[in-house]
Amino acid sequence: MHVSVIGCGYLGAVHAASMAKLGHTVVGVDVDAAKVALLASGTAPFYEPGLPELLREVGGDGRLTFGTDMAAVAGAAVHFLCVGTPQKHGEFRADLTHVEDAFAALLPHLRPGDLVVGKSTVPVGTAEALAERLDGTGATLVWNPEFLREGLAVQDTLHPDRLVYGVPTDDDGVPTADGDRAHRVLDEVYAAPLADGTPLVITDYATAQLVKVAANSFLATKISFINAMAELCEATGADVTRLADAIGYDDRIGRRFLNAGLGFGGGCLPKDIRAFMARAGELGVDQALSFLREVDAINMRRRVRMVDLAREVCGGSIVGRRIAVLGAAFKPDSDDIRDSPALSVAAQMQLQGAQVVVTDPQAVENARQAWPGLTFAATAQEAVVGADVVLLATEWQEYRDLDPAAVGALVARRAVLDGRNVLDPRAWRRAGWTYRALGRP
Ligand code: UGA
Repeated sequence: MHVSVIGCGYLGAVHAASMAKLGHTVVGVDVDAAKVALLASGTAPFYEPGLPELLREVGGDGRLTFGTDMAAVAGAAVHFLCVGTPQKHGEFRADLTHVEDAFAALLPHLRPGDLVVGKSTVPVGTAEALAERLDGTGATLVWNPEFLREGLAVQDTLHPDRLVYGVPTDDDGVPTADGDRAHRVLDEVYAAPLADGTPLVITDYATAQLVKVAANSFLATKISFINAMAELCEATGADVTRLADAIGYDDRIGRRFLNAGLGFGGGCLPKDIRAFMARAGELGVDQALSFLREVDAINMRRRVRMVDLAREVCGGSIVGRRIAVLGAAFKPDSDDIRDSPALSVAAQMQLQGAQVVVTDPQAVENARQAWPGLTFAATAQEAVVGADVVLLATEWQEYRDLDPAAVGALVARRAVLDGRNVLDPRAWRRAGWTYRALGRP
């Protein structure tokens, strides 16, 4: 099929390349000329494992092109909306400027029978409003939320856990004729994952939009639940990692997303739970989501607690202390620093008088642009030289694998803070380190 992908960021670039991999002819459109130029030359504009290889693989045969001009979508019958919906400045609500702009730019190019497929995470009600604006064009809107994880984006796009199509429905919630047709067209787009047995949920617009924010809210709640348990563990001398292992064996609970530590960040979970609360307020059901306030508060408290822990291991003050922060990205295998817990803690410590040196295998350049006041090092070995405290803030494999004896030879004082509960406390203590973590004795 001939498809267009509008917005070529972390979601859209991977989606465009993956659609080409599935055999479609794809044009990616983005307003950022620099990003388009990189993608057009077969280069990934951000770090995402597997994406450079995929771009090379599908770029060669001319089935994947990129441009800044929306007119390039002519010829495509399916248009994926993949633009970002960040948090509005100074508010909890989502900023829908990019959705608005992309949709308005796309409208004049639509032909009867075209599908507009929303993948961006939006407040419920957005799809309904956009669908109304398609009246008279002969095009149909489908809401098809995306569940990819950064770092695993290619795999998640080619082999999703599930597919959700929110289609136009009648008053009884039954898909209309347009809805049925949209369903058939999307089945063709996703023929390969569907043939692999990917579960498919066909539903209305509202449910499809809610599925996405409900899923992210559940994941955020799971993380904050275990971080709340970490606070209990700290007050009682218990070990949150053993607690998570033990409750995780109950498959109704499950061990995944029960890793306590610095909590969640990134461009999705934090802003999505806030936008969801804001939307619930507009709908008059704010009480239903008041627990998400607590989820957010627990999460943000982890960052403050980590600064306190640094102060404790420094004997009461971090002023003038040299602190090496391992990790700047919001999670490993990504260079995304949006709302990164690692950088939030690094910046707080710096503001409170510490000399902070941050390193990351992929995110140093992004971090330097956002936080020019911090000092950066290219490697962990460089960052820890002369350090009074080493803080593991993002659990890249190379930091998990660090040899406590070798690192010990470089630092001024052997004090390590394990912000992600991934180091072996015994191994570090045996090598003469003071080991502290959130929720562990
Ligand atoms: C998240 C969801 O997991 C995806 O399903 C969703 O598609 C995506 O948002 C989105 O809305 O686009 P992502 O932001 O890539 O994906 O990151 P996650 O893997 O969910 O991690 C989020 C944060 O939670 C990270 O900072 C991570 O370090 C933290 N985390 C994760 C924990 O603190 N503990 C855990 O046990 C798991």
